[in-house]
Amino acid sequence: MTTLSFENDSLTPPIDPEVDGLLANLFMTEEGRNDPYSIYAKLHQKPPCHQVSLGMIVLTRFDDCQKLLRDNRFGKDDDTEGRRRERAESLNLSIEELDSVMKFFERRTTMLFLNPPDHTRLRGLVSRAFTPKTVEKLRPHVERLTDELLDELSGQIDIMDALAWKLPATVISEMLGVPLEMRETFRPLVRSATQMLEPTLTKEEFFTGIAAGKEMTTYLGELVVERRKSLGDDLLSKLIEARDGNDSLTEEELVSTAFLLYAAGFETTTNLIGNGLFALLKNPDQLAKLRSDPTLMPGAVEELLRFDSPVQFDGRSALQDADVLGYPVKEGQVVFTILGAANHDPAHFSDPSRLDVTRQEGPPMSFASGIHYCLGASLAKMEGQVVFQKLLDHFSDIELLDDPPKRRMSVTLRGITSLVINGTRA
Ligand code: HEM
Repeated sequence: MTTLSFENDSLTPPIDPEVDGLLANLFMTEEGRNDPYSIYAKLHQKPPCHQVSLGMIVLTRFDDCQKLLRDNRFGKDDDTEGRRRERAESLNLSIEELDSVMKFFERRTTMLFLNPPDHTRLRGLVSRAFTPKTVEKLRPHVERLTDELLDELSGQIDIMDALAWKLPATVISEMLGVPLEMRETFRPLVRSATQMLEPTLTKEEFFTGIAAGKEMTTYLGELVVERRKSLGDDLLSKLIEARDGNDSLTEEELVSTAFLLYAAGFETTTNLIGNGLFALLKNPDQLAKLRSDPTLMPGAVEELLRFDSPVQFDGRSALQDADVLGYPVKEGQVVFTILGAANHDPAHFSDPSRLDVTRQEGPPMSFASGIHYCLGASLAKMEGQVVFQKLLDHFSDIELLDDPPKRRMSVTLRGITSLVINGTRA
């Protein structure tokens, strides 16, 4: 019997230069960022577990990604000294310089970057606001907001600008109790801050992201002080009550949680609307099917999330020595789960490159899996259902004027920056 041993190199996933090249294309080139799916298709022809020469392990299959994300031997460790040192070196900074700027980003106080028990405590404080039942109560209001936004629209429209960011930004602002006039100010800041989720960053992107995070958290910190004087029915007030009543979270955690919810609450949903509408317009038969049968909408939104997911990458680190698909993994080693590839895994989805709004093959991997499964999944899906239905109701015909549209130059978050259509009012 073979004993797994870290000394035995033959037991680590082999480094295939072709896979290395495909992943380099994906991460570093405009071509890869524009069309990751042809790269995923090539990766699916390779063995399921890849090691990249930089040391990370990469998983591309649905079942393997799901298993890894549910495995509690793996978790978040972005802020260990080793990880900070790596990041400092890649940005040509000293670790002290990195720490002094990173302190404004407060990764250590945000559920997204934490493991239990802190993750469980912080997620538990806000999870009730995002249950399917609570979210469903918001549907009529979201329908009204969408009607208001669509009301003035006809002819040539940039959907990203007129609707796709404004609707989710309005919903999360109202839920949190952040004044609506801040949406325009926060829009570019959220974009810069979320760029920090990219696997590769230029020094400029890093500093712009840090500055954006600092500006938003400073504002939200001041808003907490104000709101404390007169609490309302919003999520920020609930977090303040939890802080002041039971001391369940620190002031930094309070501000970071508000920041995370605000940023996560609209950038990704904006991209669901943009990527989804583009996919439908490129597949007019599917659009026609959806128009003729509105009961298909919930399944269609799942399919749009699968087809061109707003989040393409996720990952975990080994919190202890462990194994992945039989290969030993050392504590601290990073495993990437390519959610976009999992969503196009031919072993899980039949004919994955085909958009099929009637597909019934289970939910996609777009919201990840395990304890960090997207907290806002029900909200995002409900917003998607409302927006696509209202677009079909409002326009009898939608013509795509931007093909290919301009894409956001990032790999973790996949989105379109502008999508110009010609809409004929129904
Ligand atoms: C289509 C839209 C969305 C997509 C594709 C998406 C995707 C994801 C993914 C993949 C994760 C897991 C990250 C990880 O494993 O590290 C996540 C986590 C999260 N999402 Fe979303 N998201 C969306 C919308 C939203 C919305 C509307 C909210 C509302 C506030 C939200 C809040 C969160 C939060 C708070 C987490 C962290 C959960 C945790 O760490 O336990 N997301 N999301």
